[in-house]
Amino acid sequence: MFKERVELGAESYTVQYSSDPYVSLGSALYPYQGKKIMMILDENVDSIFGHILMSHFNASCHSPIKFVFPAGEENKTLEQATRLVDFALQKNFNRDDVFLIIGGGVVGDMGAFAASLCLRGIPVIQVPTTLLAQVDSSIGGKTGVNHIKGKNLIGTFYQPKQVIVSPYFYRTLPEREMRTGFGEVIKYAMIKSQALFNQLNGWLNENPLSEAKNYPETFWESILGQCVHIKSTVVSEDEKESGLRMILNYGHTFGHAIETATQYSQYTHGEAIAIGMNMAALIARGMGLCEESLVLEQQALLRLAGLPVQADGLEINDLFNIIKVDKKVKNGKLTLVLPEKIGTVRIVPDIDEGEIYKILQEVMP
Ligand SMILES: NC(=O)c1ccc[n+]([C@@H]2O[C@H](COP(=O)([O-])OP(=O)(O)OC[C@H]3O[C@@H](n4cnc5c(N)ncnc54)[C@H](O)[C@@H]3O)[C@@H](O)[C@H]2O)c1
Repeated sequence: MFKERVELGAESYTVQYSSDPYVSLGSALYPYQGKKIMMILDENVDSIFGHILMSHFNASCHSPIKFVFPAGEENKTLEQATRLVDFALQKNFNRDDVFLIIGGGVVGDMGAFAASLCLRGIPVIQVPTTLLAQVDSSIGGKTGVNHIKGKNLIGTFYQPKQVIVSPYFYRTLPEREMRTGFGEVIKYAMIKSQALFNQLNGWLNENPLSEAKNYPETFWESILGQCVHIKSTVVSEDEKESGLRMILNYGHTFGHAIETATQYSQYTHGEAIAIGMNMAALIARGMGLCEESLVLEQQALLRLAGLPVQADGLEINDLFNIIKVDKKVKNGKLTLVLPEKIGTVRIVPDIDEGEIYKILQEVMP
């Protein structure tokens, strides 16, 4: 059991590990007794956990109002977020009521975005149900929806009041979603922890990812603890991404462009990030920032986790057209997070677009 505090002054909160999320949920909702609770899920999570959640609420005398989003990244839109705001206003929500968001990163980002807009801020409790959302999207207060021009181009910074993480939810998680979560776990290892990288390597060599549902809780507690600690430390130091927090975007500039170019249908977020991390490592090697061995070791671990390292059939030109409207481009120059060693990355500003283009032309098939 761990409790990690995200230190943000008056906005501080805890990320709590729990074997039994229903018990932890009861405690998290204690301050909201007598208040309205909006339970926000997507249709998949609702069909699996909706009933059992409701029965726990009934037993603890809470009677939440339920709001269900259609599932999928393609539905992470302003229109869907507005639907939730409309619904909350129709139900007369106040700023001392609460949004309880239970689901993957799509629902987490979109629900918290709606919460930040509604009445200038309704409190949020996040109960992430995917590995990716537990190690990453539910922590740190980045909310948002996609725009036709790119990923997460509309959004706010809005911190939750509490986050509850639990491997309880993994038993129903499709294997592809488990792999996609490992994409972000490997990202943490690459940016901050050689030890985590080694642990993952050793573990996945002995315990194939297809067995992930049977991994012991001790493994999950260790992995979640390390990732949550890295994320909360970085966010505590740089909430609004003016510096250090950018390292969390390792692999994301290209990853987001891949997701946009393929209309969110070909790759999951973690798969696209895996390809993006490989591209970042290839660029780092091309610029002389890291050794060839780093590229190969990272590729090997990504493959062990069943993740792709190459985007088939994608034109570099198309990716660049998308990257140009990415929030990370300033004055026509690109800032990239590039690896130096396993566990160490560097934020490299003012990289000439042409240089990256040239390297990618050489290394991509
Ligand atoms: N805000 C941030 O800092 C941040 C960081 C990383 C990623 N993200 C965002 O997170 C999103 C990706 O999140 P995701 O990978 O969780 O995707 P997701 O929310 O689409 O969930 C993946 C799929 O799994 C289903 N699902 C969720 N929990 C389940 C469970 N326990 N059992 C069975 N099915 C379940 C969902 O219905 C969905 O079909 C992207 O939109 C990405 O931009 C945000």
